[in-house]
Amino acid sequence: MDAIAMLKDRRSIRKYKNEKVDRELMKEIVDIARWAPSWGNFQIARYTLVDDREIIRKFATDAVKGFGYNIKTLENATGVAVLSFVKGKSGKLDKDEYATSKASSWEVFDAGIACQTFCLAAHAKGIGTCIFGVIDDETISALVSLPGEETVAALIVYGIPDESPAPTPRKSVEKLLRFI
Ligand SMILES: Cc1cc2nc3c(=O)[nH]c(=O)nc-3n(C[C@H](O)[C@H](O)[C@H](O)COP(=O)(O)O)c2cc1C
Repeated sequence: MDAIAMLKDRRSIRKYKNEKVDRELMKEIVDIARWAPSWGNFQIARYTLVDDREIIRKFATDAVKGFGYNIKTLENATGVAVLSFVKGKSGKLDKDEYATSKASSWEVFDAGIACQTFCLAAHAKGIGTCIFGVIDDETISALVSLPGEETVAALIVYGIPDESPAPTPRKSVEKLLRFI
């Protein structure tokens, strides 16, 4: 797949075929996503892939704050990645203090890069994704027994797409870009 087309054509997918994605394929996608850059190359992102329908149903009822849009997407989902990260590392250099005014925010930054890399890798392999920010991270941590050193960054619903959404609007380059 051409890299520029891949970047431009990825869409959030909210309708999926009623078919689980092969775990080996998901392993390949994480194998690609692990090449994402990270603060100090600490590689703090973790992926817990859930293809158990009962847990996915629990995500819908208990872990998306009753947000109808997300409940609807989860109703036909066959896979959900819990993207988490190891706390307290990114943002620090040799000392235990944070090196910049953004303090620990760099860990969320790292998770964001990992998230997009995972979504693009999935897209390149024909798997659709939808990032969920409207989530209840504590409930999700408990549902998947997340290790105590990690916290949830986002859910990424994944599966075989059953829709081809039209491109979503984007701001013009003139609005986004400044040269000095
Ligand atoms: C941090 C973040 C949080 C998001 N949260 C949700 C969400 O909770 N539910 C949802 O349906 N889409 C969610 N989205 C998807 C956005 O709505 C979507 O990326 C945006 O509308 C652009 O559409 P596209 O992804 O198809 O290009 C989220 C995206 C990001 C990056």
